[in-house]
Amino acid sequence: MAPAMSSAFELAVPSSGLATLVFDLPGKKVNVFTRSVLSELEKLIERMATSQDIRCLVLLSGKEGNFVAGADIDEIADVTDPAAAEEGARVGQRLFQAWNELPFPTIAAIQGTCVGGGTELSLAGNYILISDRQDVRIGLPEVRIGIVPAWGGCSRLPRRTGLASALDIILGGKSVDGKKAFKIGLADAVLPDPTFLREVRSFAEQVLQGRPPPRRRSNLKSKLLDGNPLGRDVVFSQARKQVLKRTGGHYPAALQAIEVVEVGRRRGLEAGLQAEARATGALAVSPVCKNLIHIFKMMEASKRESASLETDQQPIREAAVLGAGVMGGGIAQILADRADIPVRLKDVGTTPLATGMAHAKEIFEKQVARRRLTRPEAARKMNLLLPCLDYAGFRRVELVVEAIVEDLRVKQQVFSELADQVGPEVVLASNTSSLSIDLIGRDTPNPERIVGMHFFNPVHQMPLVEVVKGSKTSHQAVQVVLTLCRRLGKTPVVVKDGPGFLVNRILTFYMTEALWLLDEGRAIEDIDGVMTDWGMPMGPLALIDTVGIDVAVKVAHILAAAFADRLVLPTWADQLAQPERLGIKTGSGFYLYKGQERSKPDPAVYRNLGLATPNEPSDPGEFLDRMVLPMVNEAARCLAEALVMNPSELDLAMIMGTGFPPFRGGLCRWADLQGAERLVTILRQLAEHNGERFQPSVALERAVEGGGIYATYS
Ligand code: NAI
Repeated sequence: MAPAMSSAFELAVPSSGLATLVFDLPGKKVNVFTRSVLSELEKLIERMATSQDIRCLVLLSGKEGNFVAGADIDEIADVTDPAAAEEGARVGQRLFQAWNELPFPTIAAIQGTCVGGGTELSLAGNYILISDRQDVRIGLPEVRIGIVPAWGGCSRLPRRTGLASALDIILGGKSVDGKKAFKIGLADAVLPDPTFLREVRSFAEQVLQGRPPPRRRSNLKSKLLDGNPLGRDVVFSQARKQVLKRTGGHYPAALQAIEVVEVGRRRGLEAGLQAEARATGALAVSPVCKNLIHIFKMMEASKRESASLETDQQPIREAAVLGAGVMGGGIAQILADRADIPVRLKDVGTTPLATGMAHAKEIFEKQVARRRLTRPEAARKMNLLLPCLDYAGFRRVELVVEAIVEDLRVKQQVFSELADQVGPEVVLASNTSSLSIDLIGRDTPNPERIVGMHFFNPVHQMPLVEVVKGSKTSHQAVQVVLTLCRRLGKTPVVVKDGPGFLVNRILTFYMTEALWLLDEGRAIEDIDGVMTDWGMPMGPLALIDTVGIDVAVKVAHILAAAFADRLVLPTWADQLAQPERLGIKTGSGFYLYKGQERSKPDPAVYRNLGLATPNEPSDPGEFLDRMVLPMVNEAARCLAEALVMNPSELDLAMIMGTGFPPFRGGLCRWADLQGAERLVTILRQLAEHNGERFQPSVALERAVEGGGIYATYS
């Protein structure tokens, strides 16, 4: 057969019969299975099926770093008819079944990220070879956008890897590296990247000669479990329990995926494929799926935005962190780990320094335990941290992150001191959580290089960084910090200087309302329970315990001073922070703790604050309105003040910084879906019954007139 060209695929069939098919979607950075790509592939498969010349086919990608990025997400976002969604699943299934039935062996040779449909096509073939490059991943992320792998993924993956490994990938929406893929039997070989194509060829030649290397087998334990019905029941019921625990039942796709995998395992491939398609019909049109796709797109847009700023900027080669406390130790650790650069960690005493270093070491050890780092790698990175008590060596650093005590005068003094120790162009970032960036840098020469870099606690786990642009902060300084955030694997959101910046400002309204509910005789567990049932990772009172009662009250006071018209604390708020009752860090707060584990609400709280023991019945609907609507109200104000660029960025910040439930689509999107007009009416009623603080903001009223928050402020 002569070499054939189509727009997305290039087939080459040399006389040896060892054919290659290169997927290279024109005009795109990654390969996606759009409708037209699928129809091209269909024609190609038809032709290849009757070819006398092909004896073995290797599927390759023409894209650097990407094999296949999956189906076209826009097509899933747009589908509104369940029957059309179901048919979309069947189209891919028929095609991949035809691939499976080709009259010669097929090999997927994966040298870049391979997810979703790419993985499913590979699974439909005979062999999967994968490069050992660190950033190469293979997986099935579908549940993350609210659907199940429906082009054969749910039905074919368990056949290859055994149930437990397959469920781990499908239910977690995970991707694994080559080593793991080989270990669980997903890949048949991991090949060295520099000689990848040569090794693929030699593998294919062995296949051609009829002596392919032995197939990977799933391990003994999974064989035993999968092999008998009782073992399978155990695996499925455990999976169900874990998913419910992790998601509170808010993410139907993962639960559906278990059912689909179960059908495929019990009743065979054909029944499994039918179940995949049926599940897709219902899931793809659901609000949860649409919300999750919306968030996925926001994140992609945010990445593109930062990438467009990254131009030709030199990466930071050496940094310093001031303050080795909870935050400083964590920031130094992540700089050494993810940016892989030397970091000077300065504090005023050897004891806090030792604590900071121990904190960093503990995080590295956890990474080793989770196999994210090898022990020697962790040791080398730990050695990048240089504890110090003075400014020696600061001339070399290209960025300083300040994380000392939250005291304006101390910070001002340290910043002007710092200016003498580093070059005038060195970016000085503050991790302050509530102080004004403009004020912190007031006495520092070259204030244009001063910027906020507000990490969240714990630094290595929380994905958000608020990048605070003061009135004098230069575009260049913001750019340096944005680039660094991406390098650290964080999601940066640029915000303007202002009390509490964005996330803490909105959150304080929510947490304060929880205090008012407590004041009115409601129980701690009822207040928090309403919010966790709604999907928040923890309730507002548990959150105050986590942040530290002293810290939360301090921030609340700062904000109450700034927004006195609508943020008022109960009179007993100052009694909340007692030295022995500061939340998790002291073992008690609103709750009692065993180490980091929350045990139960502490009844002493009511007594200590002079509140009656709760006996009021709860009204979850009212609780929810009272805690969530003030956040919506404040979000509208933040947008009107242009504190953040647009509602998408605000939603992203709330999801990444507070765990706002992703399946609800984000704070502003949720409000729009409820109908901003309806929310304004409820706020007016609340203002009438519970106080002026609920009065709808002008900004929110404007959004109602403008057709919603997104329509008004995007
Ligand atoms: P911390 O009290 O645990 O640590 C502060 C450290 O700074 C101490 O080790 C202290 O010895 C050191 N220090 C004080 N003056 C210094 C100086 N002149 N030079 C060098 N080191 C000095 O405080 P934490 O919680 O780590 O907070 C630090 C900063 O991070 C604050 O601005 C805080 O608002 C902010 N932040 C805190 C969060 C939290 O959850 N704890 C979250 C986000 C920001």
